[in-house]
Amino acid sequence: MRPLKIGKLMTTNFIVFGSPKISRDEIDEVVDSLQSGWLGTGPKVARFESDFASYKSVSPDKILAVNSCTAALRLSLLGAKVGKGDEVITTAMTFCATVNAIIHSGATPVLVDINPTTLNLDIEAVRKKITNNTKAIVVVHFAGMMCDMKSIMELAQEHNLKVIEDCAHAAESECDMGKAGTIGDFGCFSFYSTKNLVTGEGGMIVAKDKETCAHLKQLALHGMSKDAWHRYSDQGYQHYAVVDCGFKYNMMDLQAALGIHQLKKLDANWQVRQNLWHRYQKAFKNSAFKPINPDIPPGYRHAYHLFCLLVPQTMQLTRDEVLNVLQENQIGAGVHYLSIPEHPFYRETYNMDPNEYPNARDVGRSILSIPFSPWLNEEEIQRIFTVINSLH
Ligand SMILES: Cc1ncc(COP(=O)(O)O)c(C=O)c1O
Repeated sequence: MRPLKIGKLMTTNFIVFGSPKISRDEIDEVVDSLQSGWLGTGPKVARFESDFASYKSVSPDKILAVNSCTAALRLSLLGAKVGKGDEVITTAMTFCATVNAIIHSGATPVLVDINPTTLNLDIEAVRKKITNNTKAIVVVHFAGMMCDMKSIMELAQEHNLKVIEDCAHAAESECDMGKAGTIGDFGCFSFYSTKNLVTGEGGMIVAKDKETCAHLKQLALHGMSKDAWHRYSDQGYQHYAVVDCGFKYNMMDLQAALGIHQLKKLDANWQVRQNLWHRYQKAFKNSAFKPINPDIPPGYRHAYHLFCLLVPQTMQLTRDEVLNVLQENQIGAGVHYLSIPEHPFYRETYNMDPNEYPNARDVGRSILSIPFSPWLNEEEIQRIFTVINSLH
C-alpha cells in the first residue's frame, strides 16, 4: 500500500518539503560521468573542491569533499584532536548528527541553551560550561543565520579551544567576521537533498590549516597514502600504503557532477530565496504565528535555508495539529528540531534533561518549517499563505 501512497503524493499537487531543483545541466553532467566509466572519486570531485574553494575564497588545499556533513564533523573533530576524556560544547537545538559526531570522537557532548531570538547557542551559557576538559566548541548556524562568531572566537582564544562550524544550513552565509566555515578551525557543509546546494548525499570541509586538511583527506579514504583517482588513472598503476586507520568518507564523481552545477546557481537561487523570505515575513506579519529571525543584523548574510514559524501557546491548535492541517492541505512541513535532550538516547545515556535548556525545549515544542524553495510556483506560495493565515 505504501508505494501507492507515495506515488499519489508525487502526482497530486502535494508540496514536498525541501525538494531539490535538478535541471538539464546536472542531468547531463551525471550522464557524462556514467558514460565516462568513472563514477568514484575523480576529476569532478577535484573540480567541485576547487570551485567551492573559490566560492569560499580559500585556497584549494584547505578544502575536502566528503560524503556527508556528518563525516565532515567526525573528521574535523579528529583534526581538532578531540578524543576520550574531552568535553565538546554545542547547542541543544541541532540535528542529532552534530552531537553523534562528538560522541563518536570519544568526547562527552556538553549542551548549552539557545538565544530565543536567533535560535543560535547562547554565548554566556557557553562561557559557563567551559571546564579544564573542554577541547572544542561546535557552533551551528541555525537556519542560515550565523552565530556571533566574534564572541565565539574570543572565548576560544581565551581558553585555547578549537572551533568547528556546523554549516549544514549555511552554504551562503556571511557575518562581520567573514564567510561561514572559514572563521573557525573547520567548517562542515551538507549537500543533503533538502539543502540549498544538493548532491543527494554529500559534504565539504573547509580547514584553516592545509597540513591538517591533507591528513583528513587521507583519513577520508581508508588512511591510504594515495587516493583512488591517482591509483587507477592513466598515469599508470601506483601502489598505495595504508598509513592510518581511516574511514570511507570520500565523495563520488556522480555526486560532484550535481554539485558543480548546483554551486554555479547557488547565488542566483539565493536572490530568489531572499525575495521569498521578505514575502513570507510580510505575509505572516499579522498571522497567529511568529516567524523566526525577522531581523538580520547589518553585515550578516542569511542563507535563508529554513523558514520557521513558532506556534504560540495562545493559539487554539498545537504545533502537531498545525502540522496535520498542513498535511491535509497538501503542504509538506518539517520540525527543525526537537531539542536534543528530548530524545531518549541522550536522556538515558547522558542524563540530559530538556528542562535544563528551557529556550531550546520551548522552541523545539513549538517550531515548524514550511516549504521554502526558489522553485515554489505562485499557486503553491499562495496556498501556503492562505492555509497558514486561516489558522488561529
Ligand atoms: C545542523 C545539521 N548538522 C548536520 C547535519 C548532517 O548533515 P548530513 O546529512 O549531510 O550528514 C544536518 C543535516 O540535516 C544538519 O541539519
